[in-house]
Amino acid sequence: MTVKEIFETMEYGPAPESAAEAFAWLDGKSRSFGHFIYGAFTDPTSDFTSKNPATGEVLASLSQARPVDVEAAVTAARKAQKAWAKSGATRARYLYALARALQKHSRLFAVLETLDNGKPIREARDIDVPLAQRHFYHHAGFAQLMEAELPDRQPLGVCGQIIPWNFPLLMLAWKIAPALAMGNTVVLKPAEYTSLTALLFAEICAQVGLPKGVVNIVTGDGAVGEMITGSDVDKLAFTGSTEVGRIIRRATAGSGKALSLELGGKSPYIVFDDADLDSAVEGLVDAIWFNQGQVCCAGSRLLVQEGIAETFYRKLKTRMEGLRIGDPLDKCIDVGAVVDPIQLATISDMVASNDEGEVFQVAAPEGCYYPPTLITGLHTASRLMQEEIFGPVLVSTTFRTPAEAVAMANDTRYGLAATVWTENINLALDIAPKLVSGIVWVNSTNLMDAAAGFGGVRESGFGREGGWEGLAGYTKPKERPKPPKAIEAFAGKGGLSDPIDRTAKLYIGGKQARPDGGYSRVVYGPKGDALGEVSLANRKDLRNAVEAAHAAKGWSKTTGHLRAQILYYMAENLSARADEFASRIKDMTGKQGRDEVEGAIQTLFTYAAWADKFDGQVHGVPIRGVALAMKEPVGVIAALCDSRPLAGLIEVIAPAMAMGNRVIAAASQPFPLAATDFIQVLETSDVPGGVVNLLTGDHSDVAGHMAAHMDVDAVWSFSDPSLAQQIEEASASNLKRTFVAPSPGSARDMLRASTEVKNIWVPYGE
Ligand code: NAI
Repeated sequence: MTVKEIFETMEYGPAPESAAEAFAWLDGKSRSFGHFIYGAFTDPTSDFTSKNPATGEVLASLSQARPVDVEAAVTAARKAQKAWAKSGATRARYLYALARALQKHSRLFAVLETLDNGKPIREARDIDVPLAQRHFYHHAGFAQLMEAELPDRQPLGVCGQIIPWNFPLLMLAWKIAPALAMGNTVVLKPAEYTSLTALLFAEICAQVGLPKGVVNIVTGDGAVGEMITGSDVDKLAFTGSTEVGRIIRRATAGSGKALSLELGGKSPYIVFDDADLDSAVEGLVDAIWFNQGQVCCAGSRLLVQEGIAETFYRKLKTRMEGLRIGDPLDKCIDVGAVVDPIQLATISDMVASNDEGEVFQVAAPEGCYYPPTLITGLHTASRLMQEEIFGPVLVSTTFRTPAEAVAMANDTRYGLAATVWTENINLALDIAPKLVSGIVWVNSTNLMDAAAGFGGVRESGFGREGGWEGLAGYTKPKERPKPPKAIEAFAGKGGLSDPIDRTAKLYIGGKQARPDGGYSRVVYGPKGDALGEVSLANRKDLRNAVEAAHAAKGWSKTTGHLRAQILYYMAENLSARADEFASRIKDMTGKQGRDEVEGAIQTLFTYAAWADKFDGQVHGVPIRGVALAMKEPVGVIAALCDSRPLAGLIEVIAPAMAMGNRVIAAASQPFPLAATDFIQVLETSDVPGGVVNLLTGDHSDVAGHMAAHMDVDAVWSFSDPSLAQQIEEASASNLKRTFVAPSPGSARDMLRASTEVKNIWVPYGE
């Protein structure tokens, strides 16, 4: 026998991990758990069980929280929050203690996680648990630095956190560590399949002497999630399916609760013909067979350049045949058990319902296992190319050119992550900005770290977890600019005396446009005198404006320098006509308008200044590489301005434009004539058509349509607070970002609302 033959025929012996300690811990609790509220466990009510999916064995019985339990947990968190928020240095000590405790008990956590979830012990031991520790260590640092580095931010209060079953401990760490670091207290609900490591974590909290009520854990199913969503919390942080994310978005609409959603994905994995194919194949093992493919950012959609497709698929199939599937407690296992027979049935049904392409599967043991699967030759529109399977199933098609690869990669309603394999760094860095996703991995995949933000765009949700950018989701500004006094439009009688038509038109795609509905109304001054007429925009006008904004997508690719120049030019032209605008404001409001005009010029200067300075960061990550946290425009932003005639408009369009967005702004409802006069400033300041689109009329006529429109990426409202619920509810359509407040925020808040952070992981150094 040659060495090669020996190598190829060698069998792995079993390398079982002992579960004795984990069972001893469960036995010590009589295998029965209550909730962890105000530092102690409640009496168990034994309503459901947690099972080992690999064997079907019942591990423990758990309690389904009742409304009184959720209320008690929220009350406990509320009671603890003020004292907890007092000292960042004290919080840092506790977070550090939690990290140390997780490290001390790391093997117990890993084995318990594998028993409860079915993931290979190798992954629980080498990925889930170390990353959870790293999250607490890293955020102990943020707690320490908060007062000095984030002096203008404060905690939100009590955070409700609902997590899924795919990374039970890791998701807990991602939620709890930043919340606690920033001075919040929490009520967390683990997923019903996988509550055990959260309960072990609760015990650790008590062991390190964490003040009572800072961490509360309640168990149960979606009904408990609903109770938390409806409870008196200040924020909801959710990770899970897009479907439930949508339910939570609707349920919290108009409540004033902060919200972050980390949802599903169908992340493309792009292999170019010059890639190191063996590495790319190995990468796929981590992309789609890691955690049985039950990973929101799994590289589940393989796009291969046509010329190498055949070779690549051959290599991939050979590698698949070498995957070891079976007992998750065996240290040599690559693919473990699916979390539950229900999830197994979902995966099987989805694959069985597909009759397209070619299916390649390797053998898997009987039980709650699904065989690693490759389906080639699908169309981009095929159901399995579009829908999240959340199992070890890789779907694939081929492409010819980089442009086609980008188009196919972006042909999805999700936008969580993307992977690019090529030896050509120019190509990788050329397409990274073109991929619509929150994360891009270059020649690597599924990398995560506490220092780098994680999260998506489109229907993958909003908000980031990790890094400096993640802290924004657990803080709020200490001071908000004073909201303008709500002012009603003045009433009057009669029309205009001037025989020449003075109806201000809408401004769409760089042109003045008559309203589709053919309605207009008179704007009266404080003494009832008719000042002019404005058009009443409707749904169709909005639709046209959205189309125009999309056509102006070139704006997002311009340089910050150019955008600054245009904003300065707008300021210059406004300044030249300052008197005219001041008297227009006085005519409409009865108050002197000079300060507002001067303020608007200042605002334009401020955002011109920021246009080329609101930079990204380079995150140092403890992996051979760096994560470039790039700030990208959100896209198309639709906004309802507050009542201030000019300032309300400028404070919306200036930050959005500065960051490269295109805007559809509904001008001040009572006093729209300064905004319509501003059309001439836009026309004379080199603002490309479609970058700023102006609508006038009743905000209630367009608010719901703005929020529901599938091609709008974010909706802002600084208008009538009674529209908030309608806007946030309708925004669930494509899960667009919302920013609803009594007035626009500080420059930093507006710039943050105008950008998405994309983390691009690139190999760097040794
Ligand atoms: P899910 O989204 O239903 O569950 C996630 C969490 O939300 C659990 O703690 C659950 O109890 C809770 N929940 C369920 N309904 C709720 C409601 N109405 N209000 C508040 N909380 C609620 O996910 P599920 O059913 O476990 O898995 C279904 C599919 O979701 C999977 O096949 C997969 O496609 C996707 N999924 C995606 C995840 C991700 O990380 N993106 C994680 C888990 C599931």
